[in-house]
Amino acid sequence: MKELLADVARRAARYVDEVADRSVAPTPESVARLSELGGALPDEPTAPSEILALLDRVGSPATVASSGGRYFGFVIGGSLPAALAANWLAGAWDQNAALRVMSPVAAETEEIVLRWMTGLLGLPKNSAAGFVTGTTMANFSALAAARTAILAREGWNVEEEGLFGAPPIQVVVGDEVHVSVLKALSLLGMGRSRLIRVPADAQGRMRFDALPPLDARTIVCVQAGNVNTGAFDPAGAICRLAHEANAWVHVDGAFGMWAALSPHYASLLSGAEFADSWAIDCHKWLNVPYDSGVAVVRQAEPLERAMSINAAYLAHSAQREPWRFVPESSRRARGIELWAAMRSLGRSGLRELVERNCRQARLFASRLSAAGHAILNDVVLNQVLVSFGSAEKTAQVIAAVQQEGTCWCGGTEWHGRTAMRISVSNWSTTDEDVERSAAAILRIAGQGTSGA
Ligand SMILES: Cc1ncc(COP(=O)(O)O)c(C=O)c1O
Repeated sequence: MKELLADVARRAARYVDEVADRSVAPTPESVARLSELGGALPDEPTAPSEILALLDRVGSPATVASSGGRYFGFVIGGSLPAALAANWLAGAWDQNAALRVMSPVAAETEEIVLRWMTGLLGLPKNSAAGFVTGTTMANFSALAAARTAILAREGWNVEEEGLFGAPPIQVVVGDEVHVSVLKALSLLGMGRSRLIRVPADAQGRMRFDALPPLDARTIVCVQAGNVNTGAFDPAGAICRLAHEANAWVHVDGAFGMWAALSPHYASLLSGAEFADSWAIDCHKWLNVPYDSGVAVVRQAEPLERAMSINAAYLAHSAQREPWRFVPESSRRARGIELWAAMRSLGRSGLRELVERNCRQARLFASRLSAAGHAILNDVVLNQVLVSFGSAEKTAQVIAAVQQEGTCWCGGTEWHGRTAMRISVSNWSTTDEDVERSAAAILRIAGQGTSGA
């Protein structure tokens, strides 16, 4: 075991070292070689050292270098050194984070992280939280709490009675709501087609003046950070109006909640702290390894009620029991990496990460617009949308950039226009990475359609 772990450390260190220079996308040949992992399952065991060597030889080249500084697709962070190292140690610990008695360190780190996170993001001190796989499950968990709370006020116990015959809940979303909110709502039996969609403005912000009448049976879903533009719904005004009507406000702040770390960007979130629940991603901008997100809910009771189950053999303590706030029972100890990431950067390092990535997004926009390309959004955070002319030309540039390998950017449609999305979310991205990537994009865009 000892030699095996030393071997994996050597191989991983080499991978991390090389990721800074290699092509971001894997070559088609590397991907084709993945078939070497297949074939019939052997009858006989294979030595772990051989397994590791095969995985490294075949698997490592077939990865996307999304942990490196020149990956700008989707909204994807890398892994901070302390978070990656903590993840390895936690792997060796192999803790089940369900119950405190199974892992005191898992339970304790969750509590510490919750305290630090609510302090950093300006959320209510006594909030409850579930440490889940990402924002989709954070949205799901928080919206489950909303459903429980609203129906309980109506005298309906949704955990016991289900939704058949329950008082109807009105759910309000902006037109640019993230699809994960829709998925969470559909999983919770609240449907997609019965939602009220509020028109959005040019940046994708929900239009406050277009909100429908709200009541105590309403959930309003706010986006803090539009996945395309980075724009923020007017959370403060929405919270004020919603709370006058006793409605529930949920904020999908996957990456946008981290704007609170910087005084330069915190005003984008103004009033979001008055909401009832928040979904926050950690594998994106906090740069911890997959998978990691947090559902924070102002009142513990509805979250706990929605998520709790009991069995005689599952001991409970008087302290916070992690599994009472999440959909899963057994799960890995995500709090450990979150603790390591926050502790290693500290307040100033976290702020620097957000401010640097936002500045780098503006640097991208200025380089691309100086060359005559249209930036389609106000670059308020870390997201840039750029068009290279026609839809066809833009799609060709995106495909060629991905193939050329200096960097990786995805595509999207924004208000009828095809655009390249650039999301700067990685702790290791340097200004030189941005200059090199912008130069590659401009070279490819200038080459017409053939790309690299
Ligand atoms: C605003 C927003 N919400 C939700 C999600 C879904 O997050 P996850 O993939 O962690 O479930 C994303 C992912 O990009 C996002 O940007």
